[in-house]
Amino acid sequence: METIRKTIFDAVNIRGRKLGNRLVVAPMTRVSATPTGVPTQEMVNYYEAFAAGGFGMIITEGTFTDDFYSKANHNQPGIVNTKQMQAWKRVVDAVHSHDTLIINQLMHGGALSECGEHTIGPSAVQPVGLRATDPTRTPSPFPMPRVMGRGDFGVVKDGYVNAALRAHQAGFDGVEIHAANGYLFDQFITPHTNLRTDEYGGDERNRLRFLMEVYHAVKGALPAGFIIGIRVSESKVNDLAYRWPSGAETAQRIFAVLAEIDPDYLHIAAEGGRWSRECLYPNGQSSNSIAKSILKSPIIANGGMHDVELAETLLNSGAADLVSIGRAAIASPDWPKRIAAGAPVLPFFKELIKPSLTLGHTRQVMERFNESALC
Ligand SMILES: Cc1cc2nc3c(=O)[nH]c(=O)nc-3n(C[C@H](O)[C@H](O)[C@H](O)COP(=O)(O)O)c2cc1C
Repeated sequence: METIRKTIFDAVNIRGRKLGNRLVVAPMTRVSATPTGVPTQEMVNYYEAFAAGGFGMIITEGTFTDDFYSKANHNQPGIVNTKQMQAWKRVVDAVHSHDTLIINQLMHGGALSECGEHTIGPSAVQPVGLRATDPTRTPSPFPMPRVMGRGDFGVVKDGYVNAALRAHQAGFDGVEIHAANGYLFDQFITPHTNLRTDEYGGDERNRLRFLMEVYHAVKGALPAGFIIGIRVSESKVNDLAYRWPSGAETAQRIFAVLAEIDPDYLHIAAEGGRWSRECLYPNGQSSNSIAKSILKSPIIANGGMHDVELAETLLNSGAADLVSIGRAAIASPDWPKRIAAGAPVLPFFKELIKPSLTLGHTRQVMERFNESALC
């Protein structure tokens, strides 16, 4: 019998929820909320454009989860109070009017927070790199984080549970627990930043213990049907070259613990944007194929997935079920509709997010670009 080739436009389910296609907007920090973390009308328009543009699901930018140490960036949105929740509801309603699912990425910056003089982390390891997201501030070294004690574990966990409850109240279809890119949960997963000698440090099971506890606390507090995904990665925002020690072997052990958690989906990020560089091991296996062989959860692949041939190769090899698209979606929010119609897309160029990540900056660059294209 002839096998039917999968395409990025096939419908797909995540734990019983149907997506019109396999195309997901990757989470992208845009630092465009108010200084107190309230989402704005500009953010409503930004997210609605992806829904109108044909994406099956959108994962929001990382959103802070408590008022203590979670906030990672100035003008990052939060979901820690009613005002923020109600403003997110306007984003959610706009996206839902196009039958697109929307997931709120819940993020704790840990030692990589760029806000305040004090940060927390699993161990006293000063992050490499500089606090440099905000171009209006002078880049400065990250402070040495305070080692998390018992009380901090409870505060972080409660923050995630309450944030997820508010995300549900706002109408989100689910949340993604950000355990990638060097932020708090990734600091626990990564041996270099986790030197603990208690049950939260040591082997993979211990290093993923806090993530597992938070996942189960969130799952237990939310109704069935509310999607709870997890995002992991090897590379970090402040150290793109970082790879798990022993590559594929470490991946096997990490994914075995993640299989016990059994998230509603697993999102494997390639922050640097090159899947083959960040997710492929010398033995020919990929983190996606290893995850797929161990977990039951749908797998979202990331990193240059606007290369349709690569995306569909991963779908057809069984290494992924969905793909998430970041930078290409900034350049062309209607990327799916354009690709489906065989219409040209605007390729991403770095000026769209440099020197500033804000939506206002991207809009101005686009306006200048459109004017010069008309001349
Ligand atoms: C402007 C920008 C902001 C980002 N912010 C986040 C974020 O908030 N959370 C996250 O998990 N990843 C974040 N990422 C990483 C993307 O989700 C994605 O992994 C990366 O862009 C590679 O995918 P791509 O090749 O499709 O762009 C960000 C990337 C960009 C370009």
